[in-house]
Amino acid sequence: MRIVCLGGGPAGLYFAITMKLRNPDHEVVVVERNRPDDTFGWGVVLSDETLENLTRNDPESAAAIREHFAYWDDIAVNYRGTRTVSTGHGFCGIGRKTLLILLQARARKLGVELRFESEAEPASTYAPDFDIVVAADGLNSKVRKEYAEFFKPEIDMRHCKFVWLGTHQKFDDAFTFIFEETAHGWVWAHAYQFDDDTATFIVECAEDTWKHFGFGEMSKEESIATCEAIFKDYLGGHNLMSNARHIRGSAWINFPRVLCARWHHHNIVLMGDAAATAHFSIGSGTKLALESAMALADYLHSEPTIEAAFEKYEEERRVEVLRLQSAARNSMEWFEEVERYLHLDPVQFNYSLLTRSQRISHENLRLRDKEWLEGAEAWFQRRAGAIENVARAPMFAPFKLRELKLKNRVVVSPMAQYKAIDGCPTDWHFVHYAERAKGGAGLVHIEMTCVSPEGRITPGCTGLYAPEHERAWKRIVDFVHAETEARICCQIGHSGGKGSTQLGWEEMDAPLLEGNWPLRSASDVPWSEKNQIPRRMDRADMEEVKAEFVAAAEMAERAGFDMLEIHCAHGYLLSSFITPVTNTRDDEYGGSLQNRMRYPLEVFQAVRAVWPDDKPISVRISANDWVGETGVTPAEAVEIARILQAAGVDICNVSAGQTSRRAKPVYGRMFQTPFSDRIRNETGMATMAVGNIFEPDHVNSILMAGRADLVCLGRPHLADPYWTLHAAAQLGDRHEAWPPPYWAGRDQLFRLAERRESSVMKI
Ligand SMILES: Cc1cc2nc3c(=O)[nH]c(=O)nc-3n(C[C@H](O)[C@H](O)[C@H](O)COP(=O)(O)OP(=O)(O)OC[C@H]3O[C@@H](n4cnc5c(N)ncnc54)[C@H](O)[C@@H]3O)c2cc1C
Ligand SMILES: Cc1cc2nc3c(=O)[nH]c(=O)nc-3n(C[C@H](O)[C@H](O)[C@H](O)COP(=O)(O)O)c2cc1C
Repeated sequence: MRIVCLGGGPAGLYFAITMKLRNPDHEVVVVERNRPDDTFGWGVVLSDETLENLTRNDPESAAAIREHFAYWDDIAVNYRGTRTVSTGHGFCGIGRKTLLILLQARARKLGVELRFESEAEPASTYAPDFDIVVAADGLNSKVRKEYAEFFKPEIDMRHCKFVWLGTHQKFDDAFTFIFEETAHGWVWAHAYQFDDDTATFIVECAEDTWKHFGFGEMSKEESIATCEAIFKDYLGGHNLMSNARHIRGSAWINFPRVLCARWHHHNIVLMGDAAATAHFSIGSGTKLALESAMALADYLHSEPTIEAAFEKYEEERRVEVLRLQSAARNSMEWFEEVERYLHLDPVQFNYSLLTRSQRISHENLRLRDKEWLEGAEAWFQRRAGAIENVARAPMFAPFKLRELKLKNRVVVSPMAQYKAIDGCPTDWHFVHYAERAKGGAGLVHIEMTCVSPEGRITPGCTGLYAPEHERAWKRIVDFVHAETEARICCQIGHSGGKGSTQLGWEEMDAPLLEGNWPLRSASDVPWSEKNQIPRRMDRADMEEVKAEFVAAAEMAERAGFDMLEIHCAHGYLLSSFITPVTNTRDDEYGGSLQNRMRYPLEVFQAVRAVWPDDKPISVRISANDWVGETGVTPAEAVEIARILQAAGVDICNVSAGQTSRRAKPVYGRMFQTPFSDRIRNETGMATMAVGNIFEPDHVNSILMAGRADLVCLGRPHLADPYWTLHAAAQLGDRHEAWPPPYWAGRDQLFRLAERRESSVMKI
């Protein structure tokens, strides 16, 4: 085969090497515009895993690379005068120049033709003479532009500015992050050693900070001098150095996130940064380039045709690249939004930084550095006011809101049971809630309990609008208080335009087959074409419904509930006022956010006035309508939370969606938690996170990183009422209280868990 690689970076060189290793008869040419030792950048990081892959592919070049590695295990974070070090992270760094020189030597030895100082022609000029044209021409790939209509690149220029510098100051004991507050905003550095006397020193900041410094108007030398002044306390008198001779101006850039719809066209194929980029903060760009090179070389020798090899390469590598790009995006966004976290205590800030890509979980951190994690857990417990000074997982820390004291941070999310008769809870509800309260969660929410018959979602929904409802709830609450340590929260709501529908397991959100009742909502906007058009509420309607909320709150108090939650989410009545998707009013209850919040606030204030001072009130919101700028966005949700906080709401239960049939939610593990994170860290308001949180590890990492104060689990509690007690057993925590009649079962569970643990250790 005749192959040309346009670009002699890690991708082009390693692909050339690997093709020659597979078959020395291949003719391989690498066209590189620079001189052999003329490269930008300083060191790159590779993981042990990548190194093993390289060793399997070519032991000779892998050994040469290994010889030049700087290894380190620790990550140090310098922040607000504190240096926090954790260990067990296992990285290695190598100078980019050294890496390229080693790969060039290996390529030469294998008979690859290296053409340096040669600007590549358009790919179309090579295509007829070569079997394969590999576009390994990096971030600003010309080939990608030449064939843009086929590759369909999407280039997202990210918000932060960064510059890749080097220094002779030693950072050989740890991968080091430094966060410095300046008169123009925060500036931070990522520093790591890559050979005996040189370290990479990447300086990054928000675009606004960069502008205020005037970096854009500075020469490279002025820019470097300014960075030296910012980080002087860490540089030990050493200079910062740039080697980006070819870059004009001050050498600062924005990171371009590259995605391509297709990676090949006829005999031209994209590889490395030309195909996809991963943010440097997770150090995976070189890994992706090297591993893609190996994969394509393999498929070209295993598949019957070049086209088939390209197809397979694209299919297999795309998944891996997307996985890494997703972790890289989390990490990049963390840095873009770092100012949100700069109020955190150094312990929590460090944890948040270490877990930013979501690839490192709470238990994974324990494996890396048990001592550090236990220190952090003890800090969390102390701050939560735990009495015993033991390092327990964050989910087992107490929490206090007004005079309500919760024994832990796990919440049974409100979940409609559709088993009520005329609004009255039945024995189903008694058994259901009693079991969940026995199961160990600190707080049990009851389902949306409706303030009037008309305010029910379905005929099976519970209510608090008749004396028998109050009596039935009191029986449940009394049991919870008498027999468990859980506290119980009453969620009250009104279905608005989403009422008069079938039971949850029938046709969801569809009108009843018979016996529909009339609906009222913020505006006359139906949920769907099938649903009734609700009547737009007038002032009298508002007064009437507000009085119903107040009456329900009074019943909830008499029934003994410990906490109240007002349901302002999921498209029901109060939510229909908040979201512009369903609020088209032109009076003082529509239009601006202040206006859209007016009625929900009136209801809250009226309810607060009758709810005892020592008991908290939560409001559940939909923090994202998932319809872009035409609905509530996560940014607007922060403003909603600010309004609630100012009105005296104690905690915001941050859900999302179910407000529009046009919604396009992006699901995933903990997919709504970023909205809680944002609200909590931008407003200082207490929050509950919810949505696809199902492992103890998720709960612990959300709490420890300060992304929420409480964590609600819905479906996991349908599957397992004892979720919290089981989680404690799984984590080896023996402090959660089990009901005495179940102690024999508890002890057996612990014994079995210990046996399993010791047999795993023996293996
Ligand atoms: C600040 C920063 C820090 C980074 N840190 C890390 C890290 O720690 N770990 C990591 O794995 N990755 C890191 N990366 C990413 C890494 O450098 C790239 O992902 C990796 O080099 C991609 O390899 P590549 O061969 O695809 O592209 P490149 O390394 O960019 O190579 C492309 C080559 O093509 C040549 N070229 C381009 N156009 C032409 C043309 N028209 N004619 C001839 N030659 C041409 C260029 O001169 C270059 O040599 C970092 C990147 C940045 C910006
Ligand atoms: C069967 C069922 C009923 C629900 N009923 C309610 C409800 O009454 N009130 C409410 O606010 N959310 C309700 N939800 C939403 C849950 O409280 C929770 O936000 C959602 O299920 C996501 O959390 P999860 O992934 O832990 O299940 C319900 C969810 C389910 C599955």
